[in-house]
Amino acid sequence: MTSRTPRPPPLYRLVCLDTVESTNDEVKRLAEDGAADEWTLVWARAQTAGRGRRGRSWDSPEGNLYCSLLLRPACPPGQAAEIGFVAGLAIYDAIGSLVLPGLEAWCKWPNDVLLGDAKVAGVLLETLGTDWLVLGVGINVAHYPANTDFPATSLWEQGSPGVTVEDMLEAFCRHFLAWYNRWRAEGFGPIRAHWLQRARGLDEEISVRLPGETVTGIFTGLDDDGTLILEGPDGDRRIAAGDVFFR
Ligand code: BTN
Repeated sequence: MTSRTPRPPPLYRLVCLDTVESTNDEVKRLAEDGAADEWTLVWARAQTAGRGRRGRSWDSPEGNLYCSLLLRPACPPGQAAEIGFVAGLAIYDAIGSLVLPGLEAWCKWPNDVLLGDAKVAGVLLETLGTDWLVLGVGINVAHYPANTDFPATSLWEQGSPGVTVEDMLEAFCRHFLAWYNRWRAEGFGPIRAHWLQRARGLDEEISVRLPGETVTGIFTGLDDDGTLILEGPDGDRRIAAGDVFFR
């Protein structure tokens, strides 16, 4: 398949690279050198040291999407996590716009996207100084890792082998811009509501793996900052970070 340069909406400043250690680190480096403005989007065809949430590595062979966006959202640090949900919605919609109809996609707390029962995309949100955020997005287009704690899949594996990384990048950029503008105009309320409509496991029993313990309860919703609410025999527990598993 011939490669082409993706064309995201004009606001984005796309930096195309072949191989980097991590696009999150690359966009941070550009920002620290004064060589990147807000909406700089570093895209690499492969990563040699891709990073996931909670200190995990992220398999990054050529064929999947790896990109990191530099943002300056001008919001209190406590609200920055909301942008992870904005990204989750954008990935969900971008995937929906490209795959064959009938594939069942879900948002998985906090910011993953599933196709069927398996993870197809993840988000790594990191701060840079006091004002900047780096939004890293990985989407399994052609490949997916084996032997993960939570099963993984790819768009190709799920019956959409025509999708290219370039198509995926453009679709993500379009949908992210739309959801981000909505978040800026209307706040987290509509983001939270739309995310919950697409959420896997809502009102069902789930387990959340935390450092040192696993808690089980009914996933009843999100707090107004994106914290997961788990209803257990001793009342509600609010969880800010963890790995969700379904029954
Ligand atoms: C996760 O689900 O654990 C988050 C995965 C985030 C992976 C992306 S790939 C592009 C960017 N660069 C990285 O090193 N990580 C993120």
